[in-house]
Amino acid sequence: MRHLLNLIDQDTETIRHILKEAARLKSEVARGEFRQSLKNKIIALVFEKPSLRTRVSFEAGINQLGGTSLFQAGNEVGLGVRESLADFARTISQYVNALVLRVFKQSTVEGIAQYSSIPVINGLSDTAHPCQALADLQTIEECFGTLKNQTVVFVGDGNNVARSLAVGCGKLGIKFILSCPNGYSFPKDFLEEYSRKVSATLPEEIRDPAQAVKRASVIYTDVWTSMGQEDEKAQRLREFAAYQVNEALVAKAPKDVRILHCLPAHRDEEITDGVIESPASVVFQQAANRMHVQKAVLEWLLGNG
Ligand code: CP
Ligand code: NVA
Repeated sequence: MRHLLNLIDQDTETIRHILKEAARLKSEVARGEFRQSLKNKIIALVFEKPSLRTRVSFEAGINQLGGTSLFQAGNEVGLGVRESLADFARTISQYVNALVLRVFKQSTVEGIAQYSSIPVINGLSDTAHPCQALADLQTIEECFGTLKNQTVVFVGDGNNVARSLAVGCGKLGIKFILSCPNGYSFPKDFLEEYSRKVSATLPEEIRDPAQAVKRASVIYTDVWTSMGQEDEKAQRLREFAAYQVNEALVAKAPKDVRILHCLPAHRDEEITDGVIESPASVVFQQAANRMHVQKAVLEWLLGNG
């Protein structure tokens, strides 16, 4: 049984396969060709947190492949509250062919996968966002024609998006630098797992963003306050103030640098309007790739690709 719970448990070959298939699926859609690889398959989405991109790109992609999607809000299902994760997993496994989860705790995704007889996809947890990282890698490859010799500089919180991207970069040989304020680095347990499963060379951390972006092919940022951290917002606004991706920071990077952001963006917090709207920004190409890469993930998990 295959799952996509976390990029750290996927081998490099699998990631490369998904990226290659995603590119193929994208070009088929551009030619108006639609595969029917999910015909007679039903995929359920159960989300404990809000979403635009993840929900709609999965549902649209599933429909494009001839499948059916259904959505259930997490608070109605009450994962681990209304009933145990094991009971939920064993029940839903009999109705649908795959499950996409957006949750708070990574242990919820893992607990469900343990008892599920269908593939489980992590559509974001507090610590991982593997579908996002795959779309990011696809976007970087499209921008530069190759993933070789690229340097991704993530300016912001060492959060779910940063961690999955660091893992994806590490597995594909891309240099990853995190530039964050003191207290927002990658946690020790993540780095310990990274050193066991990705590489003994850990992601670099450079405190000063102006120094960090000097070698960047990509400057990446994400919100300073993630879903579930709303109580910390005022403190985070203060502590991240020097980490805004603005025109002055981008001017310190190489001329052909590209700007990525997983979205949703909080304009004039982590990124300025001017930067996100600049020709260097590829955020909507990146958002579009969520659908293509997730179609490739579904085909891989359901045995058609
Ligand atoms: N990037 C991303 O996952 O967006 P949503 O939260 O809108 O799904
Ligand atoms: N780090 C953000 C990503 C949203 C797609 C969050 O978890 O809210």
